[in-house]
Amino acid sequence: MSRWLRVPLADYEGHMTAAGVEQLAPLVELFRQVLASARPGSLAILGIAGGNGLEAIDTQVTKRILGIDINREYLDAVAQRHASLPGLELLHHDLAQGPVGQPPVDLVHAALVFEHAGTGQCLDSALALVKPGGRLSVVLQLPSETQAGVAPTGYLSLQALKETFQLIDPAWLTQTLASRGCQLEYETRHPLPSGKAFWLGVFLLLGAE
Ligand SMILES: C[S@@+](CC[C@H](N)C(=O)[O-])C[C@H]1O[C@@H](n2cnc3c(N)ncnc32)[C@H](O)[C@@H]1O
Repeated sequence: MSRWLRVPLADYEGHMTAAGVEQLAPLVELFRQVLASARPGSLAILGIAGGNGLEAIDTQVTKRILGIDINREYLDAVAQRHASLPGLELLHHDLAQGPVGQPPVDLVHAALVFEHAGTGQCLDSALALVKPGGRLSVVLQLPSETQAGVAPTGYLSLQALKETFQLIDPAWLTQTLASRGCQLEYETRHPLPSGKAFWLGVFLLLGAE
């Protein structure tokens, strides 16, 4: 059973906004950048958690929004918080078990998901959701000399995630995706107040007519 099923949303969001972590706002900022440049008609958000950043979507541009998570409690919270967001569909699914089985979209956004769900089937599931000529945007956490991968806040449920959390090397991901027909279009490094940093890579899936 995934350890994420034992993490209440309040713990996850408390942890992510705690002093010394402060990651939710930077994640929204990166998501905003991707949305502004890709302007996707359809979008999938992998590991949507509590829907951080949904307010950044321009619904005049993005007509279909697929939010996917392994934790049903998180999806229920997103449904409640964003009941009036047009085009929002929520899907309870374990990306590490198999593809989502939905029509592919223009942009698949995966922020801090592969560190938890792995780069095997979860990466296959992500790629299967991208239309030819569409994009996969990935946010990875970069190694820090001063802080653990999962920072020690008071939220004990989060600490159990350490056992399965694995940093992913952006260079490795770029090479792996190139061998799968995805070309790195844009990358940036975003420093965090904690001394950690995020890496954002936007990949174009080649093969459109
Ligand atoms: C670190 S959070 C990422 C949060 C979000 N992307 C953001 O920007 O705030 C990881 C999320 O991925 C979900 N998750 C973990 N493993 C998963 C899996 N195998 N399939 C689907 N979702 C998964 C967790 O439930 C959690 O919501």
